[in-house]
Amino acid sequence: MSSSNPQVHAFDLVIFGGTGDLAARKLLPAMFHRFLDGQLPDSSRIIGIARESTDDEGYRAQMRKALSEGHAPDPQQLEAFLQLVHYRPLDARKDAGWDDFAAMVGERPDNVRVFYLSTSPDLFIDICTRLGHYGLNRGEARVVLEKPIGRDLESANQINDAVGQVFSESQTYRIDHYLGKETVQNLLALRFGNALFEPLWNAAHIDHVQITVAETLGVGNRAAYYSRAGALRDMVQNHMLQLVCMVAMEPPSSLSPDAVRDEKLKVLRSLKPIDESNAAQLTVRGQYRAGAADGQSVPGYLDELEGGKSHTETFVALKTEIANWRWAGVPFYLRTGKRLPERVSEIVVAFKAVPHSIFDPSAGALAHNRLVLRLQPDEGVKLWLTIKHPGPGGLRLRHVPLDMSFAEAFGVSQPDAYERLLLDVVRGNPTLFMRRDEVEAAWRWADPILEAWSASGEAPKPYTAGTWGPSASVALIERDGRTWNEDGE
Ligand code: BG6
Repeated sequence: MSSSNPQVHAFDLVIFGGTGDLAARKLLPAMFHRFLDGQLPDSSRIIGIARESTDDEGYRAQMRKALSEGHAPDPQQLEAFLQLVHYRPLDARKDAGWDDFAAMVGERPDNVRVFYLSTSPDLFIDICTRLGHYGLNRGEARVVLEKPIGRDLESANQINDAVGQVFSESQTYRIDHYLGKETVQNLLALRFGNALFEPLWNAAHIDHVQITVAETLGVGNRAAYYSRAGALRDMVQNHMLQLVCMVAMEPPSSLSPDAVRDEKLKVLRSLKPIDESNAAQLTVRGQYRAGAADGQSVPGYLDELEGGKSHTETFVALKTEIANWRWAGVPFYLRTGKRLPERVSEIVVAFKAVPHSIFDPSAGALAHNRLVLRLQPDEGVKLWLTIKHPGPGGLRLRHVPLDMSFAEAFGVSQPDAYERLLLDVVRGNPTLFMRRDEVEAAWRWADPILEAWSASGEAPKPYTAGTWGPSASVALIERDGRTWNEDGE
């Protein structure tokens, strides 16, 4: 098969949590797409691991179904791909089967070994300890840790310490799939490949930044995980803070992994603390009630829970600041939630108004320039400018976007973030993965917020499924005389 992308070194991708949602929805499809593109050498293997007692054929049948969801792939190609897929039943806490598994991995000593831990973080330590016991951490071996790593700084440290006993930091890939999204990477190109933005990229010219990650989906069958996590741990501590870092970091001296991660770390360490003294002013928590999503009525979060009582937040809005020279006084507004009216993720950089208007008020209001980076759907960039309304009738001002949809501009659909990130692990490139100190800094900022919420004893504010969260989220930004970006503006 020919590909515009070079093949990677042959590998074994071992997925712990192989029968889980992420494997079926993201990891296997990502590998299948790279296979179709000719990037996977024939001697590579994908080995699903879980407790379920099935075999290669049983697992292939599950994955065949998952890979055919929503569209019918070419049957021959699908079957050829499935020949790379294997399964071993294992329990991270029991000995049975581990000898056999270690022998299987040992059959291909030259393959890069990637152990992907897509399980609850409670199992990370057991799995790594066993991998070490069987010597599977030696040579070209890497471990991938899915987020969230722990549920606070203390538990993250325990996990990182225990994993660190078996895998060195350079073998450890803490994945945040937002960093693999095309638009997020484009931020690097946009900021550091154009002379245009950098002189304006600071508190003198930027009024505020807002980041929205809205989902229409509810918690669904992930309630067991989600009820212990909530939106702050699930989305803000990782994905959204990583987006903040990409917007706010200083130019790294190169794209080398540590140059980039050093700069991101400085941003995380400069975030202004939110704690009991100010959490009520700077944060809003919400929980969805029954309502409508995608035109259908849907139950509320509590209805989906077995126990029916919970203070878990399914929505967060907050205002933070970065205490350094570049960003002093520039608010960063973040909001994310489940069961919102549309699926949209975007970063909005709102510039300051011109210092003085030369236009007659009858020309219309002067709007601020905004740079909108759309992560999904329809990845692209819009730069909102003020121009003259064409034609006669006097000088009337209009606010229009320079609009670039990547799909339209390049005629290609964007690869899923996992496609790039999984192959980066095989290649041994950790630039787009989180270093231990980044995870720690992110928890150091998030922990006091969680503590403040828990100390307040207050329940999250209810919002109807299919709306933009509690009205307090609107008030949070409007108090400052600003508004959330809406309707694709
Ligand atoms: C995951 C969260 O990390 O990201 C999920 O655990 C969330 O709750 C998902 O739905 C969102 O990812 P994406 O790529 O669909 O925006």
